[in-house]
Amino acid sequence: MRWILCRKCALRCACVLLAGLSFAALGLAQTGAAQVPSHPEVHPALWPQGHWPLPPDAELEQRVRALMAKMSLRDKVGQVIQADIGSVTPEDVRKYRLGSILAGGNSKPGGGRVAGPAKWLALSDAFHRAAMDTRDGGVAIPLLFGADAVHGNNDVSGSTVFPHNIALGATRDPALIQAIGRATAEEARAAGINWAFAPTLTVPQDDRWGRTYEGYSENPALVAQYAAAAVEGLQGKPGTPQFLDGAHVIASAKHFVGDGFTRNGLDQGDAEVSEEQLRDIAAAGYLPAIDAGVQSVMVSYSSWNGVKMSGNKGLLTDVLKQRMDFRGFAVGDWNSHGQIPGCSNEDCPQAIVAGLDMYMAPDSWRGLYRHTLAEVKSGVIPMVRLDDAVSRILRVKLRLGLFDAVRPSRQPLGGHFDVIGSPAHRALARRAVRESLVLLKNQDHLLPLDPRRHILVAGAGADSIPQQSGGWTLTWQGTGTTNADFPHATSIGHGIRAQVEAAGGTVELSADGHYTHKPDVAIVVYGEHPYAEFQGDVPTLAFAPGDPADLELIRRLRAQGIAVVSVFLSGRPLWVNPEINASNAFVAAWLPGTEGEGVADVLLRDAAGKVQHDFHGKLSYSWPRSAMQTPLNVGQEDYHPQFAYGYGLTYEEDGDLGPLSEVSGLPANVAAPGVYLQRGEPAAGLAAALAGVDGSIAIKAAPSATRDGSLRISALDYQRQEDARRLAWSGQGEAAFVLRADTPLDLTRQTNGDVQLIVELRIEALAPGKLTLGMACGGTNCTGLVPVDAALKALPKGQWLQVGMPLKCFEAAGADMRHIEVPFRLETAAAYTIDISRVALGTDPDHVLPCTGP
Ligand code: BGC
Ligand code: BGC
Repeated sequence: MRWILCRKCALRCACVLLAGLSFAALGLAQTGAAQVPSHPEVHPALWPQGHWPLPPDAELEQRVRALMAKMSLRDKVGQVIQADIGSVTPEDVRKYRLGSILAGGNSKPGGGRVAGPAKWLALSDAFHRAAMDTRDGGVAIPLLFGADAVHGNNDVSGSTVFPHNIALGATRDPALIQAIGRATAEEARAAGINWAFAPTLTVPQDDRWGRTYEGYSENPALVAQYAAAAVEGLQGKPGTPQFLDGAHVIASAKHFVGDGFTRNGLDQGDAEVSEEQLRDIAAAGYLPAIDAGVQSVMVSYSSWNGVKMSGNKGLLTDVLKQRMDFRGFAVGDWNSHGQIPGCSNEDCPQAIVAGLDMYMAPDSWRGLYRHTLAEVKSGVIPMVRLDDAVSRILRVKLRLGLFDAVRPSRQPLGGHFDVIGSPAHRALARRAVRESLVLLKNQDHLLPLDPRRHILVAGAGADSIPQQSGGWTLTWQGTGTTNADFPHATSIGHGIRAQVEAAGGTVELSADGHYTHKPDVAIVVYGEHPYAEFQGDVPTLAFAPGDPADLELIRRLRAQGIAVVSVFLSGRPLWVNPEINASNAFVAAWLPGTEGEGVADVLLRDAAGKVQHDFHGKLSYSWPRSAMQTPLNVGQEDYHPQFAYGYGLTYEEDGDLGPLSEVSGLPANVAAPGVYLQRGEPAAGLAAALAGVDGSIAIKAAPSATRDGSLRISALDYQRQEDARRLAWSGQGEAAFVLRADTPLDLTRQTNGDVQLIVELRIEALAPGKLTLGMACGGTNCTGLVPVDAALKALPKGQWLQVGMPLKCFEAAGADMRHIEVPFRLETAAAYTIDISRVALGTDPDHVLPCTGP
């Protein structure tokens, strides 16, 4: 309650007064120090007592002391700040003595879209050299280089991409999890990366969350069972010579804590649960991870009962570090500190005082460095707290042997590119695919299929490595790539084709399902398209709401007398009863990654007619009975799922289901979030209007025009009948096309990432004169208009294009991203003609417009 008050107060000092708490546990001086809320309800004694598994090490402590004694304040502040390779140069690292760099999901060496291992390793070498360069003084301290190696070393092209964690949950195989961790670590080290932001130990409770697939299970016991295996795979086992050796990396258990517990499955939201639930469900994986010696913990973006985790001293310091005995360091999430009330991305003493040891300050590191330095000098950040944070980081670096190491390319696996995507690792990934497939339906024992027949492999996912890999694959969202970006990978369709042809059968591979010879059976591969983080948040568990293309394809094939096997790609269980009913067999394949042939291994018999591999996977998440049935978790009261936790057929079993209910429970007109205009029509919750000098006209139907005729809108065909609109300005006065939301949109999370407003358009006629693209709030002084005429002139005319404008540009131009009422406004007084079909948030458009705001 008092923190809610605090949120509203403008002055940080007022918050400090309201928050009043004790630093006794940390031994911090009270006077002048920034104060942070210790959540009133944190009771460390309620939490399990942990035991750090590494024995005291006098020699290591001696080295830490010796280093600390030599380090200046600037050296120390540099250690607690991590910058992103997209926003920092080796020269910056040398000058500011930064302790760590990361590669965010979209940050690649050289600034391109994808990069192979040689570029990564060269970049790592360059940064290492800079960190060790003390020509202007300072102490040489090697760098930690972190990346989201969350399903293999997935940022580096050519790497083995393993199934996402939701799939691994279905395998119930901790030894497999450990082996995958080891393989991931080796591939990372070969490319110069020594820190994986993994494993994700979230326990997702509401599958509408866009990060559901990053969690192994909704069941805390399964997450707890996997946690140690995952950490030991990445880091090696404490007490063995392999622990943190040159073939391993440091791990990050993330995101501490409660990230999967937020209300309505909202990413970066608020977990409104009791301390016991937080402990027993959300935190289940952390104690085993600490027991396994995890070297870092990443703090969640989310809040617990209204308090941002990055500022929660009770949980970070009193529980995690003291009670659970975690002796690695706590790293923040991408500018997560900036979300603490009273903080900005560039200034946040509250976080380190609460117990954060390293700020993830991708693009904000410079300002943050300056402020942090000043705040230690002024006593706002107590020196003992800084020293504690730096010592924790140095210990980890020493344990990892960094001080004794040469540059990354000379380290044991550095430059051994044969490790990356090696046959052994690919075989491991293929095994993981096989073990993770879950069979939901198998009418009349249709599966396994005889490979000596004529098989059609159809659907958008039939031959798409990006779709079968999901988010966090080469790019942040997993979008903007093609099969060509994945050397040596195998799509599901090609895996099937290889085995069928080897057995003497034939395959037709066709996404839209057209064939030249009528197939004996069809395998239709479809499902969700890649997404990550909040961009994957959905309002219901409906699959592809408003877009029945896959269902129509299945029904069309069935109507032709062809039996259909559905292979469903998804990052979560979704309500697909119509698709299940329409299919003869249905397989939940999750997000299998680059080794798609694992699907053929299970679906097809061998050439002699024998089963190659039976189904092994069991649901690690409950499957919903309606699109509205969420949260749905095993163990809850009135547990009544469509398919229960642990469900999964084998070939022996009777796989006839009978018809499932097709009552979705959906309210009318639900649209995918972040879509504002689709097929020329405003999405539910938005209205389109023409705004001229003489007022605004709601568009009821096209054609329509402003009263003075300055802007006319008409319908035209793009991919379907009347799925686009022509906007024709007469040049006789200023006018705008606007999309207005019924309730204001809060786009702050999207703006913090690199989300863009993407418009699918065709430029027909360009006039000289200013044209602006904008976003606006309801009131005055919060409109962001960005001139785009110069940029559009450089693009091809008369053809459909996707153009994107980073949300940051609208913010820089003055838009208040917390209350956007008009998410799209296109305005000019000149004679332009532009056709538009779709307006939505997204990443990776064909063309990014420059941010040339006023
Ligand atoms: C994500 C983390 C990730 C980090 C670095 C954040 O937005 O929440 O899981 O490790 O970015 O890419
Ligand atoms: C992600 C990063 C990503 C960035 C894009 C963050 O939220 O976690 O990995 O690259 O947004 O700006």
